[in-house]
Amino acid sequence: MNLIKYRSREILASKLMVGFFALAVATVSLAQTNLTVLQIQADKVTAQMPPTFYGLMTEEINYSYEGGLYCELIRNRSFKADAIPEIIKPDTYVPDKYYLAKFPATNAPKFWNSIGNAIISLDTNTPLNAAFNVSLKLDASSASKSSPAGIANGGYWGIPIQPQTVYQVSFFAKAAVGFNGPLTVGLESADGKTFFARAEISGVTGNWKQFKTTLTVKNVKPSKENVFKLTTASPGTVWLQQVSLFPPTYKNRANGNRVDLSQMLKDAQPKFLRFPGGNYVEGDYFNERFNWKETVGPVEQRPGHRSCWGYWSTDGFGLPEFLGWCQDLNLEPVLAVFAGYTLKKDYIPAGPKLEPYVKEALEEIEYVIGDAATKWGAQRVRDGYPNPFPLRYVEIGNEDWFDKSGSYDGRFAQFYDAIRAKYPHLKIISTVGNEHPESVRVHSRTPDLVDEHYYRSEEEMESQSYMYDERSRTNTSKIFVGEWATRVGSPTPNMAGALGDAAFMCSLERNADIVLMHCYAPLFVNVSELKRDSSGKIIKGGSMQWSSDLIGYDALTSYGSPSYYAQKLFGIHGGDEVLATAAKNLPTYSWMQKARKRDGVEQSAVKREAKSLFYSATREKRSGKIIVKIVNRADAPQAVKIEISGVKSIAAQGTATVLKADNRDATNSIDNPKKVVPVTEKVKGLGTRFTRTFPPCSITILELEAK
Ligand code: AHR
Repeated sequence: MNLIKYRSREILASKLMVGFFALAVATVSLAQTNLTVLQIQADKVTAQMPPTFYGLMTEEINYSYEGGLYCELIRNRSFKADAIPEIIKPDTYVPDKYYLAKFPATNAPKFWNSIGNAIISLDTNTPLNAAFNVSLKLDASSASKSSPAGIANGGYWGIPIQPQTVYQVSFFAKAAVGFNGPLTVGLESADGKTFFARAEISGVTGNWKQFKTTLTVKNVKPSKENVFKLTTASPGTVWLQQVSLFPPTYKNRANGNRVDLSQMLKDAQPKFLRFPGGNYVEGDYFNERFNWKETVGPVEQRPGHRSCWGYWSTDGFGLPEFLGWCQDLNLEPVLAVFAGYTLKKDYIPAGPKLEPYVKEALEEIEYVIGDAATKWGAQRVRDGYPNPFPLRYVEIGNEDWFDKSGSYDGRFAQFYDAIRAKYPHLKIISTVGNEHPESVRVHSRTPDLVDEHYYRSEEEMESQSYMYDERSRTNTSKIFVGEWATRVGSPTPNMAGALGDAAFMCSLERNADIVLMHCYAPLFVNVSELKRDSSGKIIKGGSMQWSSDLIGYDALTSYGSPSYYAQKLFGIHGGDEVLATAAKNLPTYSWMQKARKRDGVEQSAVKREAKSLFYSATREKRSGKIIVKIVNRADAPQAVKIEISGVKSIAAQGTATVLKADNRDATNSIDNPKKVVPVTEKVKGLGTRFTRTFPPCSITILELEAK
């Protein structure tokens, strides 16, 4: 019976294949006179692929670190999530001073619940240290064996429990006179039906002390609907701070990163990491910038800050951890320094008042590359990183085209001169790219690179994917496309997004003589709490502050969007040399560009024509293999005649790796993570001249063996 079913399916499939080829052939013969031709000149190298071409861009947004890559499982471990935001203007702000956060008088800390008859509150009278002027007061005066009192934390939308896993628990505690302990820490299901692990801690006294223990989970099913509990059966009062729970981290690095997400990044073979932002480097106000000095040293001395994306950062994921991430994945750091301008448009113009920030940037560079004999290099060593990092690129600020005061040129020059004088080997990046008017670009110095950002619709991205071919080759500043994405699909992009991305990446590769590096953004989104509008559309809010992010996850699992797979395909098939290409009869489509405002200029709606086929060709030096990338964004198959000159022969057999979907809305999700993934197959009929039909909505990587 099953065999019959199988056979009839096979017959149906082969009929469909015949139909498909008939359609493909029909397309070819109908368009025979206008056959699309891609010519590759294998003996003409137009650029060396920069070794750091594909990278990552990241910041604390969408619960990327806390609630994402950073392994801390306790949400609001520092009890500062209730901090009352304070606005400090630059004229009164003192750069080296730490401004203590203020807290509401009464309430229990966010994301913590009381257990039994416990009364919990934020207490600013029992500070742990200068950085932690607040603690959690646990009044357990009515605790007993039959009714323990304590606190519970549900993590970032759940606490992931994995089988056979050892969790590290740590916290600071002190007790009021009369408390005789012990405290019990444990992991259990949120419904209270399953206990996974428990440990007891005694020795809490009237002085703050750190306690550590482990919780070992046996052979259970993975789950995330769980809580962490800290309780006592002894009556009394206890204060707590830095309550922390860590699962094993990637490469077992202390204070390290989530294993599945790190592995997913590693698989895409990125070469650099641009950090710490993005808007995150600027902050809304001066006292909310990424103040790197407050993010180094032991985590219990890092005060944390409110980030521009609307939630508290403990800064447990600080400058050392960005470097740790680079170390984990062998990434080159690309460091963005705060440049005296914030998102709410506060700024300090060039001159003596900017000097402390220039000094801060020099010290930050010293932290990254200084040896143990330097002040900040020694701090990095103390933070667990004995070797200097291979820093080559420093970016001055972020998106300073927003600065309408005209101060960027001067601010850039002041940072540029100081960095160049002390570290002549560093390449200095301006945050204003050529996509912005001349008037806002840097003129007083020549930036080594300019950072261009493109967040676009699929059609816009495809329309601009031949723009770099026309860019001037005489400009001395190279291009860093430091943030870009085709923003279609939420929380993560769909196949349309991947097609726009791949079209753009073809253009970046073809133009690797002027584009030195690029990175998609944002990288991560926690998809646990998605908000919808009345029509059901996923909108910003909850665990997502920015839609269309490369990789999605919840507390337990993760997935790559079709765009992630496009990045991965391009990243691992980059090649070493860009080959000259030319195309004839590229198919086109038309689309309506909506009315919009760009750089303050109103643009009315306009009908536009864009190519629907995109390509690039590179070569792997070692093997001589030619890598041809073809993106067919159309809803119909497209035949392309590929002509390769400058080689003796191309083997008839090669490989095709194809990322495609039935339609451009197709996507991956936390519940259906592998709907759109690349498939690799052996292909025949290749040569120095061959015609191949590329499926609708597809990205194809052809690997050709050349002699
Ligand atoms: O990637 C999200 C944001 O987009 C970045 O923080 C900012 O640089 C850009 O505007």
